[in-house]
Amino acid sequence: MREAGDLLRVENLVTRFKSVERGKWVTAVDDVSIRLAPGEMVGLVGESGCGKSTLGRSIVGLERPQSGRIVLDGVDLSSLRGRALRERRRAIQYVFQDPYASLNDRQTIGETLAEALTIIGVKDREKQRRRIHTLLDQVGLPDGLAERFPRELSGGQRQRVAIARSLAVEPRVLICDEPVSALDLSVRAQVMNLFLELHGNLGVACLFIAHDLALVRQATSRTYVMYLGRIVEDAASAELYARPSHPYTQALLGSIPSADPRIEAHREPPPIFGDIPSPTNPPSGCRFRTRCPRATEICAASPPPPVELAPGHHARCVIAAELHTLHRSVPHGLPMPA
Ligand SMILES: Nc1ncnc2c1ncn2[C@@H]1O[C@H](COP(=O)(O)OP(=O)(O)OP(=O)(O)O)[C@@H](O)[C@H]1O
Ligand SMILES: [Mg+2]
Repeated sequence: MREAGDLLRVENLVTRFKSVERGKWVTAVDDVSIRLAPGEMVGLVGESGCGKSTLGRSIVGLERPQSGRIVLDGVDLSSLRGRALRERRRAIQYVFQDPYASLNDRQTIGETLAEALTIIGVKDREKQRRRIHTLLDQVGLPDGLAERFPRELSGGQRQRVAIARSLAVEPRVLICDEPVSALDLSVRAQVMNLFLELHGNLGVACLFIAHDLALVRQATSRTYVMYLGRIVEDAASAELYARPSHPYTQALLGSIPSADPRIEAHREPPPIFGDIPSPTNPPSGCRFRTRCPRATEICAASPPPPVELAPGHHARCVIAAELHTLHRSVPHGLPMPA
């Protein structure tokens, strides 16, 4: 069902890979549903290998999902083929983590941007020149950079160019796959601020993939938490961070470093323990149960259905409602496992 106001709706998406282990499948994205409203900035967090990039890549068509639907502006993309599909898909652009791998080293920055403009039919040289000027300006780069090659640029500048290239085709959704994590700490905040600025000025919706929960908390209005291919919790970001109600989210939040050095000095090690199970052989029932401090036999039986804990706040855990209620009685800090 399309809810009023959704720009992008991913429904029950499943993307599997044949793994290197012979004959085994990895279900990297397992029955995932997410939605984005126009202009909304939404976070997607989870540990390495949980399927965040595969979900993003499936949305833009870089991976081929086995089942599920991707609905953009009410149109199911799987119902389209060829040119119609390419044109629709252009509204969704991907910003990669690695600004060194995502630009063509043989093209100047101007040529790279001109190529993107040609795709949307802006072929006139003078129009291209003006548009390139605007694009570079939008991402905080000087006009003179158009003559340069990617190898002459810093990581932060390259990522700005990659963002300009995405913007050139006038997207409505950006999938930002850890776009600042490969950058030096000193430029991360600047590029992050650029995203917030673009989002504010241009109204482009963003699915912001990150490990860094502090970053997502600051930037997004809603957050999805992913574990081993599944969304385990989602809520308005303020609600999620105030009342995390899936034991996995609680564990992840325990790993947010504090800006306060006194807290940081006495910080407990993250309460999450053990490694992510092999995705070729995930646990039955709740996938987090093998690492969950609160797991009981019931968790092995079947995957817990999503429970709505507050308007727009869902968690897939049999005791999520109990954990959510506990937040009211424990005003300081997270409720700890018994
Ligand atoms: N092309 C592929 N072939 C086989 N397996 C793959 C492929 N791409 C991803 N996988 C597997 O799918 C799972 C999800 O990987 P994915 O890259 O989506 O995770 P991620 O959450 O983006 O991780 P990270 O935070 O490290 O970027 C992993 O088990 C990974 O090994
Ligand atoms: Mg990834």
